[in-house]
Amino acid sequence: MKGKKILIGVCGSIAAYKTALLIRLLVKAGAEVKVIMTPSATDFITPLTLSTLSKNPVGLNYFNTQTGEWANHVEYGLWADVFIVAPATANTLGKMANGICDNLLIATYLSAKCSVFFAPAMDLDMYIHPSTKRNIDLLKSYGNQLIEVGHGELASGLSGDGRMEEPEIIFETLRNFFLNSNSLKGKKVLVTAGPTYEAIDPVRFVGNRSSGKMGFAIADQLALRGAEVKLVSGPTSLKNNNQNIQLIVVESAEEMFTACMSDFSKMDVIVMSAAVADYKPMEIADQKIKKKSDELSINLVPTQDILKQMGVMKKGNQFLVGFALETENEVANANDKLSRKNLDLIVLNSLNDIGAGFNSDTNKITIINKAGQQQSFEMKSKNEVAKDLVNVIVESITK
Ligand code: CTP
Repeated sequence: MKGKKILIGVCGSIAAYKTALLIRLLVKAGAEVKVIMTPSATDFITPLTLSTLSKNPVGLNYFNTQTGEWANHVEYGLWADVFIVAPATANTLGKMANGICDNLLIATYLSAKCSVFFAPAMDLDMYIHPSTKRNIDLLKSYGNQLIEVGHGELASGLSGDGRMEEPEIIFETLRNFFLNSNSLKGKKVLVTAGPTYEAIDPVRFVGNRSSGKMGFAIADQLALRGAEVKLVSGPTSLKNNNQNIQLIVVESAEEMFTACMSDFSKMDVIVMSAAVADYKPMEIADQKIKKKSDELSINLVPTQDILKQMGVMKKGNQFLVGFALETENEVANANDKLSRKNLDLIVLNSLNDIGAGFNSDTNKITIINKAGQQQSFEMKSKNEVAKDLVNVIVESITK
């Protein structure tokens, strides 16, 4: 952390006392820390406490009320290597997500070019309100990093999700960010995500329930570590706002194959997390199929197995990762896929785990490598799962 410039935005929450401890940890580790407070943050902790701990004046207003001097929010943003808003209240999350610029913290956020983290703190019902969830999703879609809340006793006396994460964990998150941020610099990575739709006629298709969340989260984590990411996705409702990710949207397995193969040889790492259809209709009707009889059969034929083809084409320095969604003999089936498709890693998720797999926000994975070594992880958010997977990829290719 030595010499790292960390800007901390503090909002009006009882969790602000934890930020004092976070500042102390960062300063002790050699980081330079500056603090900006929202007006209501000063009801919870004094600027004097935070300026003493950070060894820097605290930003409170657009201008210094005594000297009239302008507090330059652009300079704050340019100075920082990282900006972390902790605690981030529901109010400030809403303003950040929607660009409502009525204090120095938000003005700095809107002009900052560095990576942004936010650590929410609020009561459990506020945390699960659809508007809070939407604001958090918006911030994530801008490329900002959520430090997820903890579970436990809240200021209201209720117990549940909403506690700001502990200072030691936030410190570790920032330390890992600096350790990892360049670990994939210069690497080209291909990620696939989402389902494929195989047309039956002009209005109907054979598809699956994949949401694309896992693949998008993997692409985000790879980009965060400096990789140049090409994300080929089937139809999803997800958006990409990350400048280091080139998103190519396709529909069918055949289109995905073409998009993946166009510059396959240039890729250093390939992560095939898409739920590619194994079969497609033998024929696509030119016109909408009319309801003429009591029965209708659609003949299906296999699609091209993209991953298998990649395994055939793979050069020694390319690192190939596949996914396996299994319902029985999970490890044996995953191992079989790993060797059949000539992979370096396979990520196994079992449909027997509640909360894992398609269309959920969480996943539980086991990663198996060529040497047969297995690493099993707890049920986690897809974001956290993506971090675990990318850690294993980075470790494997830098060994
Ligand atoms: N995959 C692919 N192209 C396909 C089908 C699958 O690239 N046409 C990739 C998926 O993205 C995933 C891996 O292959 O990374 C596993 O897919 P899966 O369909 O489970 O494997 P199969 O070998 O088809 O085995 P199964 O009998 O379980 O369907």
